[in-house]
Amino acid sequence: MTETVSTTTPTSTPNEFGYRRFDLGSFQFTRDEYFARITWPTGSHLMEVGQFLHVLVRTMGQDFFFGWVFFDDVFGTVNHYGKIELFAGTYSPAHRAAGAAHSEYHTAEDMHALFHAIATDWISAGYDPMADSADAGSPFGPKGAPATASLSRGFTPIPKRMLGLAGDVPARSEEAGQHVNRAFADMYLDRPEISPEPGFEGRLHAINAFDHIARSDVSWIPSVVSVTKDSITCMSSEEDRLRITHGNDRPEWFIQLTDEIHWDIADKDTGAPVGRVVMRPGDVAAMPADIRHKGYAPKRAMLLVIETLTPGLPELYAEGKLPAHPVEF
Ligand SMILES: [Fe+2]
Repeated sequence: MTETVSTTTPTSTPNEFGYRRFDLGSFQFTRDEYFARITWPTGSHLMEVGQFLHVLVRTMGQDFFFGWVFFDDVFGTVNHYGKIELFAGTYSPAHRAAGAAHSEYHTAEDMHALFHAIATDWISAGYDPMADSADAGSPFGPKGAPATASLSRGFTPIPKRMLGLAGDVPARSEEAGQHVNRAFADMYLDRPEISPEPGFEGRLHAINAFDHIARSDVSWIPSVVSVTKDSITCMSSEEDRLRITHGNDRPEWFIQLTDEIHWDIADKDTGAPVGRVVMRPGDVAAMPADIRHKGYAPKRAMLLVIETLTPGLPELYAEGKLPAHPVEF
């Protein structure tokens, strides 16, 4: 592991396709018409550029998620909450065996600067990495006009207590120009009636969380809908595939709310297949702390995720002081 403090430095001269190179620590990032190329002192790796950019903008928008983000089986990040581990081959047995694995720690600020600089230079008009595959356009070819699609849409601030409370983050609404996705047009999305007893006015609150999620413009982006001490409830809509393979640093509870999601589960350290979970409405799964998973949704589906933010929890799982599986059958 290398402790590195450095800043993102693009080369001043674009390559023959119009794209600049970006460096952070001893990693170098270049792209051509079809591929992102990542180079580090002991190796290099090629990745389809749409896959790379799709994961990059989501990782940036979600502030590096919980735990691991695998761009693919070779390259990714680990959130150590303050420092970000940038790795290549570290969780690939073949790379480790060949001595080609490499990891560095960088500040979250440097990582954000790197990802922002790459996204700004490598994404052109006509490609929207936040959109689902059918609407995303093409990431391929030489550099074109500057991109116009918002890369920050869909990432809502975390409510202090609950969506829609006075002074808190608002729920999505028609009034704000956030329309119901076509996949949820058949859902009954009324608003709850709130009738407090005298003396409790302003202290009782309710929203239709389904309505909030049905109006999300992007998929696979969890929205925090409530916070209770160290427990947060997230909801999201999922369509097509999650191109991020997420590695847990704590168990995650999944409750399938609508439609269907298929999850490929693999060992976090090796990528060896562990199983496939198919979730239909009402199904509940506890995703263990020692796995990586990747999801597929044939039709846009709603998922509720419960995360536990107890301080020090990732270390307890990493050191084996808590079982990776929260339930024994
Ligand atoms: Fe996860």
